[in-house]
Amino acid sequence: MILVTGATGRLGHQIVRALRSVGLDVRCLVRKGSEYYWLNDTGTAYFFGDLRDPESLSRAMRGVKHVVAAHGVRTESTDNHHKNVNAEGSVALFEAAKKRGVAHVVYVSCAGIEHGADVPLFTAKRAAEEALVGSGLSYTILRPGIFVQNFADLARRVEANGNVFLPGKKETAVNPVHTRDLALMCMASLDLASVKNRIVHVGGPETMTVGDAFRRMCEANGLPASAWNVPPSALKAVAALARPAGRRWTNRVKALDVLYSHDCVVDGPEIGKLFGIPLAPFEEAAVAAFTERHPSEDPTARDEKVVHRQFTATIYEPGVIKWDDLPAGPPPRQD
Ligand SMILES: NC(=O)c1ccc[n+]([C@@H]2O[C@H](COP(=O)([O-])OP(=O)(O)OC[C@H]3O[C@@H](n4cnc5c(N)ncnc54)[C@H](OP(=O)(O)O)[C@@H]3O)[C@@H](O)[C@H]2O)c1
Repeated sequence: MILVTGATGRLGHQIVRALRSVGLDVRCLVRKGSEYYWLNDTGTAYFFGDLRDPESLSRAMRGVKHVVAAHGVRTESTDNHHKNVNAEGSVALFEAAKKRGVAHVVYVSCAGIEHGADVPLFTAKRAAEEALVGSGLSYTILRPGIFVQNFADLARRVEANGNVFLPGKKETAVNPVHTRDLALMCMASLDLASVKNRIVHVGGPETMTVGDAFRRMCEANGLPASAWNVPPSALKAVAALARPAGRRWTNRVKALDVLYSHDCVVDGPEIGKLFGIPLAPFEEAAVAAFTERHPSEDPTARDEKVVHRQFTATIYEPGVIKWDDLPAGPPPRQD
């Protein structure tokens, strides 16, 4: 059994699909209220728990041989943030894995860790990495750079508003990676000896500047590459100005500054060879990323694509999370 955290995320759902496509048994750790039923057609099992609840992690880990940890916090809230999810939640997850004798853990970290000393996203990722390395568990830590999907988000804003703010330096060198390719890297890492007990920087096949990635994303999708650049100095000012509105915006702007202002280059063809994966060329990935939308962003896609097959689920703490509380979905399996 493979436990996937962050299964409802942009990366996580691709991981679940990749693992299920080769018939592996998958259990997704999902929160009540998540768009989990997006994954029903894969035949995965669900465990309803939360990274902030160590007891639920221990129970979710029952009978689990491998863990793929792809959770994250895109926008912090007062009770779900980098500290209690990305740092403490990850540490608790690895402790539970250790106690349950898990054979190997793949953890999706983030490029830029070495630059973001005072940025909560990166301090949390560092704490998680250190805990995993020090746990005695067999592990692979992947540090991806910017996703192709991030440029698709910018292009969607161009489509909606005719223009967008492009953060950081236009000339920053990056290797945008499509989450489907990253998912395959996660899957390969489960039993690839050459990445065992290693921290591996990963990315897409081609190195390009942030400005070019944005332009090529727009052109691949028939849009004008129309952007106002917000350079690092301006991003820092925005982060300071955003402080009264709460840490979530300040933290987010600081993380964007690190990701879009520091070169983050990998040898794409070597990454492909290391994992034995043909990485999608940028233009192909750009069209796919622009077309695919997460169900939470696109209710039409939800209605069209969700297949309500029967699935198995374990509900943690009956009485706290009840079937009636869950979003509309298929009935529990009766056998
Ligand atoms: N986007 C990028 O450019 C980029 C670059 C490098 C690395 N990364 C890393 O890649 C990973 C995946 O990113 P992504 O864009 O796929 O993230 P995402 O779409 O924001 O998904 C985050 C996932 O984490 C889950 N989660 C959040 N809080 C949780 C909690 N308290 N308990 C259990 N699950 C929780 C979410 O579940 P819900 O559905 O319940 O919210 C969701 O499934 C992250 O670690 C991110 O830091 C991203």
